Amino acid sequence: MSRVVKKQKIADGTYLLELEAPEIAKKIGPGQFVLIRPKARTEGICLPVGIVKRNTISVVVKGENSKVLASLKSNDHVSDIAGPIGNQTSIEEVENVVFISDSYGIPSIYNIAQAYKDSKVQTYIIIGDKSRKFLYWEDKMKEITNKIVICTEDGSRGHRGTVPSNLRNILSDSQFELAIVAGTPSFMHEVSKFTRQRIKTKAVVNPLMIDPIGLSGTCRIRVDEKIKFATIDGPEFNAHSVDFDELRERIGRGFE
Ligand code: FES
Repeated sequence: MSRVVKKQKIADGTYLLELEAPEIAKKIGPGQFVLIRPKARTEGICLPVGIVKRNTISVVVKGENSKVLASLKSNDHVSDIAGPIGNQTSIEEVENVVFISDSYGIPSIYNIAQAYKDSKVQTYIIIGDKSRKFLYWEDKMKEITNKIVICTEDGSRGHRGTVPSNLRNILSDSQFELAIVAGTPSFMHEVSKFTRQRIKTKAVVNPLMIDPIGLSGTCRIRVDEKIKFATIDGPEFNAHSVDFDELRERIGRGFE
């Protein structure tokens, strides 16, 4: 059992859950996931860890992805947490990196951007979603980046329009050696279409997961026509080699 140390609403339908998990907190690295089972004998949900403290890990839950987790209160308990899952991000030897994400990918890029900043790499962050009410952690990201750019489809914050539709304008006068994208499969697909032939791009892929040990095949994705497992081989993959159409078809639920 793991106690919910803090439950906080951070955006529309979006909650931060800080969970007591000292063993995982000691071992987990940037880009890694955990599998949380809210109640015994229920399906677990795999989530990237956004913030790690001495004895706790924090994840972000969107109501439509896990009503059970989103309904928990502080001092409630989850049945169990498994992790760390997946491989830690491997810090590339680059001068600068641009992180591009929608509201789903923010916990992943926040954690990885922190690691790049600690490695003295110039970090830039571009985030966006339908409206500012879905975005969060802008203040936290400002602390770890040289520049943050925001896009909202309704124009309620920053550039009006989707992130992919604004990339040409936002990136026009800058040369990036690496881009790291996270979010829904459609979002990552649109971004990787723009960066193809322009910027080497890694995608932090968050497919459905059941047993993070390669048994169920649930987290399989096609990369360069080969089947990979996000929990074993990922979660980071060359974005220009991922079959996002197939991934989107398979994920469907709640992630579009
Ligand atoms: S979740 Fe079962 S193989 Fe990855």
